[in-house]
Amino acid sequence: IDAATFQKDLISWFETEQRDLPWRKDQDPYKVWVSEIMLQQTRVETVIPFFNRFIEWFPTLEDFADAEEERILKAWEGLGYYSRVRNLHSAVQEVRSEYGGQVPDTPAEISKLKGVGPYTAGAILSIAYGKPEPAVDGNVMRVLSRILTIDADIAKPSSRKIFEAAVRELISHENPSSFNQALMELGALICVPGKPACLLCPVRRHCQAFEEGLQNELPVKSSN
Ligand code: ADE
Repeated sequence: IDAATFQKDLISWFETEQRDLPWRKDQDPYKVWVSEIMLQQTRVETVIPFFNRFIEWFPTLEDFADAEEERILKAWEGLGYYSRVRNLHSAVQEVRSEYGGQVPDTPAEISKLKGVGPYTAGAILSIAYGKPEPAVDGNVMRVLSRILTIDADIAKPSSRKIFEAAVRELISHENPSSFNQALMELGALICVPGKPACLLCPVRRHCQAFEEGLQNELPVKSSN
């Protein structure tokens, strides 16, 4: 696979076809962070109105840091998994007290924050700060398993590193933000679970699974 043409095909498609989502309106690290935490266990369509209301209630990191527990829980009502918002609140307070309100921009520092795992760290670093860091979730693993015919079991936590290494080989250093979001968008719109829409795929000429007719067999996902 030629990384440069792959990037160009993927990013050009993303620039014209991406959904208009509220967290794509600016690169504020706080808003990117909130959206990525919401999106971890909740579908995009469900998240949209919650994200909009959350940002109306707490427009800045400082507003959220100062918010009362009762109000932050109220803002999360309906999204579930309340530990997400409790962790987010304590991490935001730490950003204010330890980093002067600036979300850290390095993997080592950002990963220390409560609730910020490798996926969230990579998403914030790439989308808000333009750093060429992988942001590998289940969708991205599915897409890359097909493009590169990677048969690692995506249900195994140890497989993430294999896919992160693949992203590091392929990611655009010109536009890491669009590159990572384009992989997510491709997984959401085209390279879906089950039967992907390969005939509509902007990168099918790069896809090893498509070439070999393996798109319905990948990814490998054990059901344990
Ligand atoms: N899923 C996780 N992060 C996302 C994002 N930034 N846009 C769309 N879907 C996502």
